[in-house]
Amino acid sequence: MPERSLSLRKLPRATKPTAAEEAARRPRREAVGVPERAADLAAVILPLVRQGQQPEKGAEGATLRSAEARLEEATALAQSIGLSVAWRAIFPVRTCRPSTLLGEGQVEQVKQELALRGIALAVVDAGLSPVQQRTLEKAWGCKVIDRTGLILEIFGARARTREGALQVELAHLDYQRTRLVRSWTHLERQRGGFGFLGGPGESQLEIDRRLIAERMAKIRRELEQVRRTRGLHRAARRKVPYPIVALVGYTNAGKSTLFNALTGANVLAKDQLFATLDPTMRGLELPSGRRVILSDTVGFISDLPHQLVAAFRATLEEVAEADIILHVHDIAHPDTAAQASDVRRVLDDMVRAGTLDPAWPSRVIEVLNKSDLLAEEQRIELADRARGAVLVSALTGVGLDRLRSAIDQRLSAGLAVHRLSVAPSDGRALAWLYEHGEVVERHDGIASIELAVRLSPEDLARFERRRAAAVPDIGQPCAALLSHPETEGKA
Ligand code: GTP
Repeated sequence: MPERSLSLRKLPRATKPTAAEEAARRPRREAVGVPERAADLAAVILPLVRQGQQPEKGAEGATLRSAEARLEEATALAQSIGLSVAWRAIFPVRTCRPSTLLGEGQVEQVKQELALRGIALAVVDAGLSPVQQRTLEKAWGCKVIDRTGLILEIFGARARTREGALQVELAHLDYQRTRLVRSWTHLERQRGGFGFLGGPGESQLEIDRRLIAERMAKIRRELEQVRRTRGLHRAARRKVPYPIVALVGYTNAGKSTLFNALTGANVLAKDQLFATLDPTMRGLELPSGRRVILSDTVGFISDLPHQLVAAFRATLEEVAEADIILHVHDIAHPDTAAQASDVRRVLDDMVRAGTLDPAWPSRVIEVLNKSDLLAEEQRIELADRARGAVLVSALTGVGLDRLRSAIDQRLSAGLAVHRLSVAPSDGRALAWLYEHGEVVERHDGIASIELAVRLSPEDLARFERRRAAAVPDIGQPCAALLSHPETEGKA
């Protein structure tokens, strides 16, 4: 088979696979979870770049995060795509070598360790230049992928919607453009995935740049189309004017588990990073009777490769629109503070990019999850220290009632209470008020029902409009619509 067609076959596809194709791919995907061959054995290597004697002063998160925890995260990322991590190591790097990043002795040491264990894939948790990647592959005699390559693999495996898949494909092609891709047919066959992982094939195959460029242009056109449809869906949803509550948080913080626990939905929640790439929405009823839409989002991750920022941000559109943002923390994780600042930094980046309003922090409720993993005294101390935050365990359900009430309260804060009267026969108007507002007082008279209802200005206007239009289900000639609005709660 000519080399070109081999390499082109590996280009990820955006077209939706047929049911038969899906079925054909399924067994191979399942094989990923139980690696049996050495080709699935991986090493995770963390180069810790030092300046003088001091650890690297990089991004805020990077300085806070201990090297061990970074290695742990990279290992979990590798495992989340079915790799079996047989060896891992941290290498302090005093001077970055342009050809290998690591020092000469370190390269040699890694080579021996890999050979000893028959490892076929080295994940280097850093950004590698194409030259460094190639040189290391040659030196170690195995496939090398860097952090970007690894996250691309994960995103590729997790993308569930068409838009997600197209964005990941685009990001991958962009990344691939600068690199020669070698065939790593064993894992590719097993995974049945995008085949982002190349390999130390006998010959290096040059990707046809023209074809990649054409493919990228086509994907961009398709993305435009998908976005237009998505915009329509969103517009349609906005016509159902429920507040949106978006879950955000570091990857593996427990967002999907919390989403399930709150809504009873059965979305994917497993002990793998990035279990959610595309937002998932569900309705949720709060203690006041108010309904909201709960939206799950993809997990945040530190040092997100720049090629993936656009794809990642697109998954956060719901956050920009959200009335309330639930920031879910894995409070039992040793790096919980650094993870939280990573999340905040990404949201601040969105403000700079003009996709999020700068007042987003006022819409946040901090949710400290996995409280069941803390000792009793830690829980007490946290409850005392983190005022305003809600301590929960999505797994055991402890604290979820408090969380629902906190959402209720936050939505109510600053909303005026309006006195309304409704004809007793107008059941639909009553139901509408209960659904859209919070009924804080009710007196049932013979001629009218007097209500004190906390309503947003938009909902009050909507109620007035429906009544003015004499919509039969609301517009009865009953008493004055509203008397004295009383503002309760904080502005
Ligand atoms: P991404 O999709 O990767 O962003 O992850 P996520 O934040 O949605 O996390 P997910 O809900 O998938 O949970 C990750 C792991 O944490 C799973 O193994 C959950 O069972 C576990 N987990 C979630 N909540 C809790 C909790 O309250 N307590 C404990 N002990 N484990 C939890």
